[in-house]
Amino acid sequence: MGKLQSIKGMNDILPSETQAWQKLEKALREVFYAYAYQEIRLPLLEKTSLFARSIGEDTDVVGKEMYTFEDRNGESVTLRPEGTASCMRAGIQHGLFHNQKQRLWYMGPMFRHERPQRGRYRQFHQAGAEAVGWEGPDVDAELIALGTRLWSALAIPEPELQLNSLGDPESRKRYRTKLVDYLNRYQKELDEDSQRRLLSNPLRILDSKNETTQNILQQAPLLSDYLDIDSKRHLDSVCGLLTDMGIKYVMKPHLVRGLDYYTRTVFEWVSVEAGTQATICAGGRYDGLIDLLGGKPTPGIGFAMGLERLIEISNSPGLTFGPKVYIAVTNTAGQGFAMALAEELRNYAIDVELHCGAGKLKNQLSKADKSGAELAVIIGENEISENTVTVKHLRSNQLQQVWARDQAVPNIKQLLMGSD
Ligand code: HAM
Repeated sequence: MGKLQSIKGMNDILPSETQAWQKLEKALREVFYAYAYQEIRLPLLEKTSLFARSIGEDTDVVGKEMYTFEDRNGESVTLRPEGTASCMRAGIQHGLFHNQKQRLWYMGPMFRHERPQRGRYRQFHQAGAEAVGWEGPDVDAELIALGTRLWSALAIPEPELQLNSLGDPESRKRYRTKLVDYLNRYQKELDEDSQRRLLSNPLRILDSKNETTQNILQQAPLLSDYLDIDSKRHLDSVCGLLTDMGIKYVMKPHLVRGLDYYTRTVFEWVSVEAGTQATICAGGRYDGLIDLLGGKPTPGIGFAMGLERLIEISNSPGLTFGPKVYIAVTNTAGQGFAMALAEELRNYAIDVELHCGAGKLKNQLSKADKSGAELAVIIGENEISENTVTVKHLRSNQLQQVWARDQAVPNIKQLLMGSD
């Protein structure tokens, strides 16, 4: 049998990385709450039909990327490739959208069978926000302000906000016909994927990275010329509100999204720092989705960001978790003494790493230094016989001190007070 390894594209997050993740998650939570978004937690596994119906049968996500299998009852189930569909399913199921509006957020792993590369994984993590029940442009602009605040909270070099409107389903249908008419003239020159999409999902051709296709698209009709008047007004208002808040954006008439449920406002934040997988956060309105899933017609808008991509480009210094105090114990006779002291310090919310297994003091002090602790408390033979502790200052030149055991906790508390 070969070596057991994790599945390709599904990564372990190692102890050296988890602090950055925790810091990111904390910052996300704080910003979500600053805008009155409430957390919802959703299952990782859903019925396949939920995603097929909401994301769309002709999308790459549903057509090629889902982890779908039959469970033991023979029912087709799928590991969630995104959170919006589950969130709407849950809202409908529990009556959350009945005569009430909701601002919701979620965070967790998603699964897509894509070709793994930097920034693109098969198990990846998203944090998403969904505002359900508001149809006006104010909530669109507010959601974008939330995203913008996140980038500054995470010290992420300002990504570019790209904006477009997909209009209502009618205007999109009109545009689709015009686009197909135009592209049919160049059918043979289009790349293979785009030729296929010409039949299944022609708007996605606008997203093609192929150079020849891009050249052909330069003269293609623009969706913005076919927008219905309400969608046009909606877009203008969103732009006006963003300008009022000093948020910069770039109009991208070719911005379409890879999921079928969008209407009107769509947007993406693109970061040059993130390499080829440059979109760190993306979303838009989905005014028809709840209706499509069997709920009462209710408007909604949301976005989701890829946490792996944010971690890669985040500039914020890592949080220094880790112990404040390292207790070095040179022989087994001192273990009870040391453990009692450690427990007492933890009663005051002081994080302690206790050296287990005794051993040479020199080695223990080098571990204390690496742990990031402020203080090393040494418990050796002398300390036990004299009922004292020796304290070494690891981050300053202050001289080593010896205290009576009953003074140890109050003195350590006082020393650490100023160090946060
Ligand atoms: P999405 O564009 O499919 O939208 O994904 C959103 C973000 O998730 C992407 O911009 C990217 O940062 C990250 N992402 C997607 N796939 C991967 C992957 N394979 N590896 C790493 N990161 C990835 C949605 O999922 C929608 N549910 C967003 C939304 C919420 N729209 C309305 N509400």
